[in-house]
Amino acid sequence: MSADWRAPPPLPPSAPERVRGALGGSLLFEQPALAADRARFEAFVAGPEPLGVEVGFDHGMRILERARRQPDWRWLGLEIRRARVDAAAPHAPTNTLLWRADARAVFAALMPPGRVSLVEVYFPTPTDNPRHLLWTQSFVDAVARSLAPDGRLVVVTDVEGLHQHIGALLAGWTEAEEPPPAGVLSRRERVCRRDELPVYRRCVSPPPQG
Ligand SMILES: C[S@@+](CC[C@H](N)C(=O)[O-])C[C@H]1O[C@@H](n2cnc3c(N)ncnc32)[C@H](O)[C@@H]1O
Repeated sequence: MSADWRAPPPLPPSAPERVRGALGGSLLFEQPALAADRARFEAFVAGPEPLGVEVGFDHGMRILERARRQPDWRWLGLEIRRARVDAAAPHAPTNTLLWRADARAVFAALMPPGRVSLVEVYFPTPTDNPRHLLWTQSFVDAVARSLAPDGRLVVVTDVEGLHQHIGALLAGWTEAEEPPPAGVLSRRERVCRRDELPVYRRCVSPPPQG
């Protein structure tokens, strides 16, 4: 499926206050049952340290290693699969919050502007379903708003079509130097290395906000 992946047709725009996403999208955060989760997130990102975010952390190897190696940063992991979050969360040090949440809704509805120093997305899913697609213009715009002016977005994929799709969404962003390696490979990264698959990487800083 992924060898000749092409972006599915975009969905019609939703109302600005309603960000689509898995797990109920942004409306989810307005439910009383999630007030504690939201408060925990808000307290976590209010801290003074630089904030790094990994989207789709899966088993969490990368973000947990980053958190151990950079204890002077805060690390937020966003992952929609509950079993992955439940398995990794007990290993998270105190500078790390692993949250079962849709990154599209978190960036659009909750993340304070200019707060984030680093966003990492390793091997995003090359979905054919437009409802599940992470890489849309609205996600890229929300990430741009969330990043500090010298903040960086790193995206890595082995799917050439997805790399091209993301490249088009990142028009106007500035090429930047990649941060130091996490010190451990993600699961997909290990497969790509083992099978000698081509891997496409981008590291960019956001365009100046108008
Ligand atoms: C192909 S896997 C890659 C996992 C890992 N980063 C790696 O490199 O092996 C994509 C991951 O992103 C997660 N994911 C997909 N859409 C997401 C979203 N909107 N928000 C948060 N996580 C998401 C999936 O559950 C899955 O764990």
